[in-house]
Amino acid sequence: MKSLLSISYNSDASKSRATEFAKTHGYPCVADTEVTTTLKLHYTDDKVELCDLEKEFCIDIDFIAGNLAHRQQYGGGRGQSIAKAIGLKQGLAPPSVLDATAGLAKDAYVLACLGCRLTLLERSPVIVELINDAIERAKENEHFQKIIDRGFNVIANSSIDYLTELFQKSKDNLAKKRLPEDIYPDVIYPDVIYPDVIYPDVIYPDVIYPDVIYPDVIYLDPMYPDRKKSASVKKNMQILQTLLGKDEDTEELLNIALKVAKKRVVVKRPKGAENLSSIKPTYQVNSKKTRYDVYIIKS
Ligand SMILES: C[S@@+](CC[C@H](N)C(=O)[O-])C[C@H]1O[C@@H](n2cnc3c(N)ncnc32)[C@H](O)[C@@H]1O
Repeated sequence: MKSLLSISYNSDASKSRATEFAKTHGYPCVADTEVTTTLKLHYTDDKVELCDLEKEFCIDIDFIAGNLAHRQQYGGGRGQSIAKAIGLKQGLAPPSVLDATAGLAKDAYVLACLGCRLTLLERSPVIVELINDAIERAKENEHFQKIIDRGFNVIANSSIDYLTELFQKSKDNLAKKRLPEDIYPDVIYPDVIYPDVIYPDVIYPDVIYPDVIYPDVIYLDPMYPDRKKSASVKKNMQILQTLLGKDEDTEELLNIALKVAKKRVVVKRPKGAENLSSIKPTYQVNSKKTRYDVYIIKS
């Protein structure tokens, strides 16, 4: 069977970056002319792109030109459904957002342009490479530099692992405080009084914790099974589907996100799709093709 992905380059300068990525992640690295796989992560002197050699197209991320810049300029600001879903409101500071399914970082960038501090989590090293390359290219831009200064941090990790660790840390903090139930183990205390998550900034109010660690909002946009003919699916999504397949652990991700988010969890779904789990959202925000399921934790 044909292998899925190789790493390629088209110049001596791009070869060293390509080789390093291939070595770190265990992919074959070849000159552009020798690629035989379905996909290639292709390094040039200008950018890194992901190409589908069977369907004959390439994608890259560009925060400064193209669709993303257009959306930033004309996308409707705080009136957009995504802005309403994450709770952006006139007169209130924009929330910090952890995008636990960063993908091509389009939604994260829209939220960053609306003033939110962003942490982007992505488990595919190929996708992380595309995001980081786009950030490097955009750094010269004054507007983008402001976004970086405010917070636009990419973490290459599984969100479930990352959030589970945060949750555990909050429990450890809780454990450090001696609770009545530790002292009187036979008494049943209602757990609404002792919540599952204790944020360190609640226990130690004088210590300044970077709030990206315990985000106000956790945003999820997992891959969903494609029921339409692939020609109608946008190229970006087609290539992600070929590279990643569908996400099988979304319910687990939602469950841990609900334990860690300070204010709300927002799940992006295609209109008409079933909920991510049996837990019902507090409410939904609908747009033409998309639905945002909003789970309020604290208003
Ligand atoms: C549909 S894409 C997200 C698109 C993104 N919202 C955008 O605007 O470009 C889903 C992405 O989430 C990532 N993902 C899914 N589950 C994840 C998890 N548990 N941890 C980290 N990344 C995850 C997938 O690898 C994929 O890149």
